[in-house]
Amino acid sequence: MTRVLAIETSCDDTSVAVVESSGRVLACRSADQNREHEAYGGIVPEIASRNHIIHLMPLVDRVFAESGVRFNELSGVVATQRPGLIGSLLVGWMTAKGLAVASGKPCLGVHHLEGHLLAPFLFDEKMTAVERAEAEAWDFPYLALAVSGGHTTLYRVDSLHEIQALGATRDDAAGEAFDKFGKLVGLGFPGGVRVDKWARLGDPRRFPFPRPLLSDPDSGLDFSFSGLKTAAIRLLDTQKSELAAEPVSDAEQPVPGLRADLCAGFQQAVVDTLMARLQAAQKQTGLRRVAITGGVAANSELRRQLGTWTGLQTRVPPLRYCTDNAAMIGLVGSRRLALGEFSALDSGVMARASLGST
Ligand code: KG4
Ligand code: ZN
Repeated sequence: MTRVLAIETSCDDTSVAVVESSGRVLACRSADQNREHEAYGGIVPEIASRNHIIHLMPLVDRVFAESGVRFNELSGVVATQRPGLIGSLLVGWMTAKGLAVASGKPCLGVHHLEGHLLAPFLFDEKMTAVERAEAEAWDFPYLALAVSGGHTTLYRVDSLHEIQALGATRDDAAGEAFDKFGKLVGLGFPGGVRVDKWARLGDPRRFPFPRPLLSDPDSGLDFSFSGLKTAAIRLLDTQKSELAAEPVSDAEQPVPGLRADLCAGFQQAVVDTLMARLQAAQKQTGLRRVAITGGVAANSELRRQLGTWTGLQTRVPPLRYCTDNAAMIGLVGSRRLALGEFSALDSGVMARASLGST
């Protein structure tokens, strides 16, 4: 059994975990930076890297204390090496290399998306017996929709080393679309989770948003969200004065009304599009296991719709393992270390790195 210290700092969440190659998470702690970035309406890379520096080592101390694991009981140190914000990645990767050198352990860089794709295997003490049984029963091959602020891609996952992209967004990622819509509708940052909260009080049928690409037979399993964004901008323009008459007093405290109906309509369009493609991919591949991972997998409507699928093994990891977290990076890293892989100490980070593209 391989056990690692894992670090994730690819974007704005700092996360550290102690994880075993079985999928068992002994400790995982994260610090978000939503308050630091809120005033700017989005993530400011320079602020993100500076905050990773502040949060990282206290989180390392904390997961060691919580897991009871000592440094000499680790097989290695792993961290997200690609893709992501370059300054953010550098903080985590350099720290991982430093800890590895100081302790004489191997270190290994992980692709962030491989982490999201392998998250269905993670289990911990906080899970219910049912959740844990589901995670332990999870196996290759499976179909996975990785849907986050940076990605909307459908993958066929046959093993750790056999991952094939089946379709991807041609423009915005779904999380990015949620975030932009949140800002447009006056809910600020972070948009995705707020649109979800407001949508719960709204009527999704009042404003029928388009489902881009779904009626285009040549689009295969690709996605597009830019047309939806344009439609939203036009619609919001027609509702400007009515929206101004319903000012947001607290974006975290949704109220029913026009804004909630707009959120519900928009969310329905994004989720229907994602689920239509997932269903088509399932039919095409015949795969019996289907997972949704990444930050947008936290969306309540997406989870509800997947929950209605019957006759297949479906899985959405718990929220803490859907959004960016070090546990998923630890799982990939520990399995790769177990196979004898490691990274050269002079290897650097990469802002861009595709996965499974043909
Ligand atoms: O995977 P993640 O934490 O970071 C990236 O690698 O991008 O995903 C973050 C994205 C953000 O765009 C955020 O708005 C979205 O996931 N998100 C949601 C929800 N929670 C987070 N989108 C819709 N509904 C949610 N409940
Ligand atoms: Zn992510």
